[in-house]
Amino acid sequence: MCGIVGYVGVKQAAPILLDGLQKLEYRGYDSAGIAVRDAQAEHIEVVKAKGRLKNLMDMTDAGRAVRGSCGIGHTRWATHGEPSTLNAHPHYSREKRVVVVHNGIIENYQELRAKLTRKGYAFETQTDTETVALLLDCYYAEAAEKGLSPRERALFAIRNMMIRVRGSYALGILFGDQPGALYAARKDSPLIVGRCDGELRGHMIASDVPAVLNYTRSVVYIDNLEIACLTQDELRLYNVDCEEIEKPFTEIKWDAAAAEKGGYEHFMMKEISEQPRAVRDTLSPRIHEEEDGSRSVDLSELGLTDDDLRAVSRVTLIGCGSAYHVGVVGRAVIERLSRVPCEVDLASEFRYRDPMLEENALVIVISQSGETADSLAALRLCKERGVRTLAIVNVVGSSIAREADATLYTWAGPEISVATTKAYSTQLAALYLLAVKLSSVRGTLDAAREQQLLADMLALPDQIEQILADKERVQWFANKMSACRDVFFIGRGLDYAISLEGSLKLKEISYIHSEAYAAGELKHGTISLIEDGVLVVALATQPDLFEKVVSNMVEVRSRGAYLFGLTLCGQYAIEDAANFTVYVPRTDPLFATSLAVIPLQLLAYYISCARGLDVDKPRNLAKSVTVE
Ligand code: M6R
Repeated sequence: MCGIVGYVGVKQAAPILLDGLQKLEYRGYDSAGIAVRDAQAEHIEVVKAKGRLKNLMDMTDAGRAVRGSCGIGHTRWATHGEPSTLNAHPHYSREKRVVVVHNGIIENYQELRAKLTRKGYAFETQTDTETVALLLDCYYAEAAEKGLSPRERALFAIRNMMIRVRGSYALGILFGDQPGALYAARKDSPLIVGRCDGELRGHMIASDVPAVLNYTRSVVYIDNLEIACLTQDELRLYNVDCEEIEKPFTEIKWDAAAAEKGGYEHFMMKEISEQPRAVRDTLSPRIHEEEDGSRSVDLSELGLTDDDLRAVSRVTLIGCGSAYHVGVVGRAVIERLSRVPCEVDLASEFRYRDPMLEENALVIVISQSGETADSLAALRLCKERGVRTLAIVNVVGSSIAREADATLYTWAGPEISVATTKAYSTQLAALYLLAVKLSSVRGTLDAAREQQLLADMLALPDQIEQILADKERVQWFANKMSACRDVFFIGRGLDYAISLEGSLKLKEISYIHSEAYAAGELKHGTISLIEDGVLVVALATQPDLFEKVVSNMVEVRSRGAYLFGLTLCGQYAIEDAANFTVYVPRTDPLFATSLAVIPLQLLAYYISCARGLDVDKPRNLAKSVTVE
């Protein structure tokens, strides 16, 4: 999705903007642009380019050719209007009286466009963002007639724009007659302000933390309907009524290096390799060891009492993409252990079924970014209905994390690759903790089983390490299969949930058609697609379903499929049906997803590499989907 960076300070702005935009490239984009001005001059220079940021770098000599210490930059992921230089941001009104960069979607832009046209404004692009620039221009002119000070004029214009506009936005704004001032505003699209000290003295805005990490760790999270006014030496924050407000700075703990490739060819492989650490960091601080050696789950950070957990009558898990797949696993694990009825829904569907939410329901929203528009909207619906919400989120301070009643952070660290790996694994870990905690307080788990589950959970990081140590075998197989056209992932029960994730991983980065199927469903229609050479990845980690899955494997093999069988060590009978087999260490079957998913991530990664594709930034995709 789009990315925003802005800087006003003592340094030249353009190189900082371009560097920040580079750090946001992983979000996905199709064009980029910057607007830079000298802090004393009224002239604002705008440079835009279609395609990769490199084009903009080349046009500006890496920013050196655009002089000025105040500016805003943007990477655009087209929603309204084709990807083109014209539609790239920044957008501006006549004579660049107002220049803006925007993340989000203006829903009523057509209506506003018509009104502004009637007032004599002319539009040059097909974007919704240009409407914001012209609307601000209109209100700014009205404010000038009232004899307001420059800052009051800006606040008047921004406030009125915020009232008129429907939709979501994070905005960086320059006013032509206010050199040295940079404004920002937000509704439903992430935005932070950073304070730079020392030789960088000044302030920054950004849509995402990695953009500012090279310059500051000290940030303020801008909330909905808030406005920021930044100069080199001053940061002032206002609510939508233009009353000044105070907000604390937060120290970002991330190490800038954590968002770099660290010697790996791709972020995805780096993040796959980080999973043992990430899962350990998510589990260990929450599993306490008593003096007698027994263990228990401590989720006191959630602020939920045991009575609260006992009172939960139903759990609803919500997410998009891989986060939804985690929910599918979570449903099985929570129901099996705690016997609390559990359902899972796609965040993008949830609101439209007018969901029935019981008074004592617990809604769990799962999201790496914490900014996914559909997940955020689902969360808000639940809050409106007065239902208790819990977020499982990776990005600290993100919208979902802040708006949920309680947040269980996954400690995966920054995930840059569009294809999620370590966030998925840590989300699973967080759900296992919740499932055991719920079961323990509800008395559905006997002590011995609880201890065994916790021991198995704590063993997962080392077991993932073990699987990764043998990654070359999967690489060999991936190279052999990289030209395949159709792949089916099949499994039953939890293995079906793993299939969903394996299939998504493959299709998103290899562009190979693939489908996940509940193995028992194949013969109800889909088996007609099986012919010579079709690759079928069969998951058979669940002992109680093992024989049934092997039967399904035999069915497709006899119709020409080439079989990749994936199971737990010891279940060697899979070799009767598979052409190629991968074994993962034994664990409680409820946790098998955490291990079985690793070879599937590797399969997708190596196939994408073998096909020479852009592993970290697959076509048409964005890391964080902040539009519905
Ligand atoms: O940031 P979120 O976890 O809310 O993102 C949800 C999905 O967009 C995400 O999992 C997506 O499916 C991934 N690209 C899958 O690898």
